[in-house]
Amino acid sequence: MKKDLSYLTNHYDAKIEQIKKIDAPLNFIFYTDPHNGLSQWDCPKHSDYAEDDYESALDTVASMQYIIDKLPKLQCVVCGGDLGNDYHDDPQKAHESIEEIMEALYQLTIPVHCCIGNHDDCVTAPSVEPLKSFPNFEGEKKPDVSEYILYPEDLHRICMKYNPTDGNYYYIDFESLGYRFIFLNTSDFYYGIDNNGRPVYPVNEVGISMEQLQWFKETVQTDKKVIVFSHAPIRAKGHFPDCVGGNEYMVNGDRLWNAMQRADNVVAAIAGHLHYDNLVYDGKIVAIDTQSGTGVDKGKWDPASPEREFGTITETAFDVISIKDKVIYCTRFGVGEDRVARIIRA
Ligand SMILES: [Fe+2]
Repeated sequence: MKKDLSYLTNHYDAKIEQIKKIDAPLNFIFYTDPHNGLSQWDCPKHSDYAEDDYESALDTVASMQYIIDKLPKLQCVVCGGDLGNDYHDDPQKAHESIEEIMEALYQLTIPVHCCIGNHDDCVTAPSVEPLKSFPNFEGEKKPDVSEYILYPEDLHRICMKYNPTDGNYYYIDFESLGYRFIFLNTSDFYYGIDNNGRPVYPVNEVGISMEQLQWFKETVQTDKKVIVFSHAPIRAKGHFPDCVGGNEYMVNGDRLWNAMQRADNVVAAIAGHLHYDNLVYDGKIVAIDTQSGTGVDKGKWDPASPEREFGTITETAFDVISIKDKVIYCTRFGVGEDRVARIIRA
């Protein structure tokens, strides 16, 4: 039996009408940081949850079809990464939580593009700080990293279904609409095996390789307007919470940001990672960060985050982003507010 999602979709009709009135040619869903399964330490189960079913993230994804069915101009879903519960001490469960949410996204009837998040390789768990407030979290009992690490090629298989390349960054064009979407990989580090047979991997780092930077410089050369999507915002300046250590927090981030500014066609940079709604005008680009898709820890990654309650509309947060002329409308489904950004390029 299909789960009753009316606790979410009952709130969607008014928003859908609002989007119809905007009547923008380019519309897509932006959904980020679902952390599917992390709510198992936090979520009082809904009355119709099965014993092993904590996943509000899956409900959110399933509920998107309600919107897709009513908005024929929705082009795609963009998922900003941090997909599953990498904190789980059973590697198989951690991996399943990632595969499960991607499978749910791929059930939707429009394409799903994904950026890889810093949690998706499953090696970021040594920092359990955000979980200490979870009453049921039993702490760090994970086995050796070699048992749970997901390599870039694993993530390619799991979450790059609509990526036409072999790598984990790519672009797609909306030819008739004059837009190019670039999907970056901000976890673009060396993964491999050292001389002692031990895995080599980054821990809690974000960055892009020089190779990706070069690729970006070539890919941005188009007569189309460009929107850059990434898991982590490329630049931290003016973004909240400032938990990322100033402006040079991302490896090659400044180089990339300068290339984005210099290209006269990059109009917006859309990201997740901070679990907070930011709208920052920086140079010639508007940067838009979106709240985490799931109210893990009731959304309280920061005291300034809005209150969220499982089993209500506030358990979720994602936007339908509609672009018309020089205006970017972010219509919020779930906790938080609608936002309007301006394209400030001449
Ligand atoms: Fe996240």
